[in-house]
Amino acid sequence: MSIVDVTFTVNGRRATVATDPAAPLLEVLREELQLTGTKEGCNEGECGACTVLVDGLPVDSCIYAAGATAGRSVETVEGLADDALGRDLQAAFVAAGGVQCGFCTPGFLTTLVAVLRENPAPSEQEVRTALAGNICRCTGYSQILDAVAVTISGRNGR
Ligand code: FES
Ligand code: FES
Repeated sequence: MSIVDVTFTVNGRRATVATDPAAPLLEVLREELQLTGTKEGCNEGECGACTVLVDGLPVDSCIYAAGATAGRSVETVEGLADDALGRDLQAAFVAAGGVQCGFCTPGFLTTLVAVLRENPAPSEQEVRTALAGNICRCTGYSQILDAVAVTISGRNGR
């Protein structure tokens, strides 16, 4: 294992971490940068709890090599506090009961921010398809879909 400096932007701020470039991004975010909002679930790319955005696209940070972030922009759930869409989604999740234990929530929120930036008015089927990699064991998904619908209609003035 070789340790190298990896420099990237996280939530708008430049960060340099000394890490094995093959180490999971999830580990670097949580243990080196103390960004513990991103959760570790299955640790094998199946549940979506660890989703973050890299250059705007959702990735499973548990299976994404930290070295691959060099020169890129990473957004975690913590960064959504500074994002109007992220704040709207969070408020809608709370209002609709889309957060129960909350373990899956950071992954859903980051995925949805990417989806709604790309298409501000997706159909329910498009939302379901986009969320296929995010597992929630508590809500039965309907409250999450309700929260997304409220966010979409609120942001589109409907
Ligand atoms: S913890 Fe990464 S996909 Fe489950
Ligand atoms: S709210 Fe508990 S897993 Fe989704």
